Amino acid sequence: MLRARSVAASTVGGSNSDHAATHWPWMAVFGPSTTVVRPSRRAASSPTRVLPVPGGRTTHAWREPFAHAASSAARASTCCRRSVPGHPVAAYALPESTAARVRTPAGPPGSVRRMTPTVPPDRPVRWGIVATGGIAATMARDLGDVDDAVRHAVASRDRLRAQAFAEEHGFARAYGAYEELLADPDVDVVYVATPHRQHHAVALAAIEAGKPILVEKAFTVTVAGAADVLDLARECGVFAMEAMWTRFLPIVSRIRELVAGGAVGEVRSLSADLGFVREMERWDRLWDKDQGGGAVLDLGVYPISFAQMILGDPVRVQVTGTIGPTGVETGAGLLLDHASGARAMIDCSMVTPLAGRVSITGTGGRIDIPPRFHHPARALLVREGAEPEELRAEGELATVGHGFAHQVREVQRCLRAGLLESPVMPRADTLSVMRTMESALRGLGVEHSEDPDVLLRT
Ligand SMILES: NC(=O)c1ccc[n+]([C@@H]2O[C@H](COP(=O)([O-])OP(=O)(O)OC[C@H]3O[C@@H](n4cnc5c(N)ncnc54)[C@H](OP(=O)(O)O)[C@@H]3O)[C@@H](O)[C@H]2O)c1
Repeated sequence: MLRARSVAASTVGGSNSDHAATHWPWMAVFGPSTTVVRPSRRAASSPTRVLPVPGGRTTHAWREPFAHAASSAARASTCCRRSVPGHPVAAYALPESTAARVRTPAGPPGSVRRMTPTVPPDRPVRWGIVATGGIAATMARDLGDVDDAVRHAVASRDRLRAQAFAEEHGFARAYGAYEELLADPDVDVVYVATPHRQHHAVALAAIEAGKPILVEKAFTVTVAGAADVLDLARECGVFAMEAMWTRFLPIVSRIRELVAGGAVGEVRSLSADLGFVREMERWDRLWDKDQGGGAVLDLGVYPISFAQMILGDPVRVQVTGTIGPTGVETGAGLLLDHASGARAMIDCSMVTPLAGRVSITGTGGRIDIPPRFHHPARALLVREGAEPEELRAEGELATVGHGFAHQVREVQRCLRAGLLESPVMPRADTLSVMRTMESALRGLGVEHSEDPDVLLRT
């Protein structure tokens, strides 16, 4: 069996190691600098890039990726006018409400604009799912927990697979090509459930077809790809949201309120980990770079997004990690510094069963979320000088089904209210999380590219 063998370390700058060595034991093991552990074969042929850091600080890889604006603008001019060769639905006419929205000028970055609602209040929302893998099935089941959600259509690269999925989960229509679903005028919103590397092309095509989108995490595999999608959505007046379902769970909303209300004082530190053991199979999307594999995009996205939700954007990212035999990172540790002085310590792995805990510590106490924090059953609020208080995911804080119903309700609320983004998972937060992940991946020497051809293969 192939393994990550010898260690070749390279430095990407770094400071604040004293804190890390005290509070974050692996930092002490690996030393104060950002360290990459990789198979010797890779190290010999492609040395890890040392990223330029002004003033000796760790890199921020997110300044340059925004050179996509021109292509995005060009795409916007074809918004909702996409033709689909070979499909009669190519002549799909814009609903008047969509056409009106497309003509509306874009708002400033970060604005949650209010447009003509895409779904009237008096009828259910008809969902279309793109892809028929594991998470598509989970979503299909959870749609049943939302009263006014309709399982309308599913698309697969394989018509028989789509038909089997539709039959099993009660979808009215099944398509053997993703674009057929995007051209269905009765689809109100599209859930993109392909592997991450295939999100970008599907999401762009959906927006061009005028469809609101809920895109699985990781939103894309590059910052530029995420910005492409979010810019086009804004320019076309189409709702877009990352399916970071954790943020919509009632108990997580309550934790967020507690922190914002000062329950633990000023937050100074957050630690979060998530991992499991996934046996290596080259076809498995976690191990396969062509499907956007690796621990950071699949698992790290949860603790990174959680930290972003509590602390906002980091000003510095330090990383250490291990590259596996298929060229993707099998695990990574991130140290995120924030302008406020707060720090987040993140650990993720696909070869180690990390518990999945979060601890948010402030000047007046802390909130501990026992495993698994991304769909918690409970949390403990420990205020200085007071008895611990337990929150349970019960009653009004209960999680419905697997937990996806809450994000589905939010999407539907936004569509009915004519919002282009959700204030709970806004585009700025998605971009921030993508920047942190891309910065970490670059530090590890892992570069991804979006798959432009996924629609050609359907
Ligand atoms: N929110 C969560 O809790 C959660 C959990 C797991 C995964 N996810 C996310 O959901 C997405 C899908 O994950 P999954 O576990 O459902 O993956 P999966 O089981 O491997 O299914 C992915 C599906 O995507 C389609 N696909 C399109 N292009 C493909 C390609 N080049 N290679 C392989 N499949 C391709 C296939 O459907 P067709 O053959 O029908 O076209 C495939 O069944 C990922 O972005 C992942 O991060 C989220």
